[in-house]
Amino acid sequence: MGTKLKILVLIISILVISACSNDNTQPEEEMDDMDHSTMDHDTMDEHMSHDEVVSLNNSTGENELNVPPILEPDNDDDNQVEYTVRAQTGETEIFDGTKTKTYGYNGSFLGPMLRLEEGKAVKIRTINELDEETTFHWHGLEVTGDADGGPHEFLEPGEEEIIEFDVTQEASTLWFHPHPEGKTAEQVYNGLAGLIYIEDDHSKSLGLPNTYGENDIPLIFQDKTFDDKGQLNFSAAMNDDGTIGETLLINGTLNPKLTVNKEKVRLRLLNGSNARNYTFKLNTGDSFEQIATDGGFLNKPVTLDEITLTPSERAEIIIDFSQLDTENDLTLVNEDGSILLPFNVSEEGGEESSIPEKMNDVSVSEEELSMPVTKQVELFGMMDQVTINGKKFDPERIDFTQEQGVTEVWEIYNKPDEMGGMIHPFHIHGAQFKILSRDGEEPPENERGWKDSISVQPDETVKIAIQFKHKGIYMFHCHILEHEDNGMMGQVKVE
Ligand code: C2O
Ligand code: CU
Ligand code: CU
Repeated sequence: MGTKLKILVLIISILVISACSNDNTQPEEEMDDMDHSTMDHDTMDEHMSHDEVVSLNNSTGENELNVPPILEPDNDDDNQVEYTVRAQTGETEIFDGTKTKTYGYNGSFLGPMLRLEEGKAVKIRTINELDEETTFHWHGLEVTGDADGGPHEFLEPGEEEIIEFDVTQEASTLWFHPHPEGKTAEQVYNGLAGLIYIEDDHSKSLGLPNTYGENDIPLIFQDKTFDDKGQLNFSAAMNDDGTIGETLLINGTLNPKLTVNKEKVRLRLLNGSNARNYTFKLNTGDSFEQIATDGGFLNKPVTLDEITLTPSERAEIIIDFSQLDTENDLTLVNEDGSILLPFNVSEEGGEESSIPEKMNDVSVSEEELSMPVTKQVELFGMMDQVTINGKKFDPERIDFTQEQGVTEVWEIYNKPDEMGGMIHPFHIHGAQFKILSRDGEEPPENERGWKDSISVQPDETVKIAIQFKHKGIYMFHCHILEHEDNGMMGQVKVE
């Protein structure tokens, strides 16, 4: 190494070390270092900007990935399908030989997958078997406000409630989780999260991989911290700016690996973490195709080398294992190279599937592009000082009203502070929307589909066009769950 280079490396190391040495007893200092703003790929920048985000431990790949069971209906006839979903406590063997206290839906940890058909009427009996209040929120589902499971619709311990709705939206990957005021972060962290797949005739006719658990696989990414007894201790792990951990669970599996055939495999990625952002890529640098966003298919597949998902965002991607060199280890890695999911590629050929060139037709009209902004949302702050339009959540206050079936343009601005600010993942209940622009520019190709959650960078302005199909009171909020619990949430009344 040349002397100049050595000096440079030394300077960089000093900078990095000083940036990384967070002293928890000095909140001001900690805030100084807290800059999530840069998402570019300059290593140095990355290190400085994510300094307080502990890296994930590499997955050793010793456990085969758990795939959530498909929830069996209690009753299914031509008109209506009926399910029971109960929130419960339990014990889960995440570590061999250790019983971890967890929460789950219809089981001890996480939940089953709810497969719904477009056009069908659904009745769900929700039961709260926890010893605290909870709600059942269907993230991304277009339902009336009283079926949406926001903080107003809480169930006391032992209480149950039947909700009914029609599935009126296209094929997509949604999810469900609790939403009690001030307690969402803890309940999700303890394990309350499940998947919803919506299928329709179109999705079934596309010829995409769709054998559940074989070539159509959900991946719920969640990071945790376990104490030395192998327990989740939320209050100890809790961070007001978003609880993160060094231990990754995918579908609740520690150190997962995924065995696949040499075929196209569809992965439905869900960032189900309280606060961590992920940038997924293959260790070989090979590309993959993204086929769907939060709320449905993209018009055409988009080839990517990596994809970033902030909390609550979903993406469906297809990796073609028949085209990859699988002689060497193939793994899904995070931005910093940590191993998230090793693939074990069997020699078997698997199914023939294809990715059609045209999958959907979501378009932004000239009219939508020229519509005036009628709702402005300003995201601001950090820790417990987070606000929307300068205010904290008040269940008694309606922040916006919007007419059912009428498109409006919302403008979301992430106002930086002296420290730079951080990414806020912004989510609206009860609707799927389209991104019109990011800082005045057309959104990237892989965001030109239906969305219900978007990342908003510091100082970025995102314009969206949104229409609510149903009436009711819906939440909009930051999906860093601790920010949500700290009041970074508002309400829109649709009438
Ligand atoms: Cu994932 Cu208010 O929701
Ligand atoms: Cu939601
Ligand atoms: Cu936030």
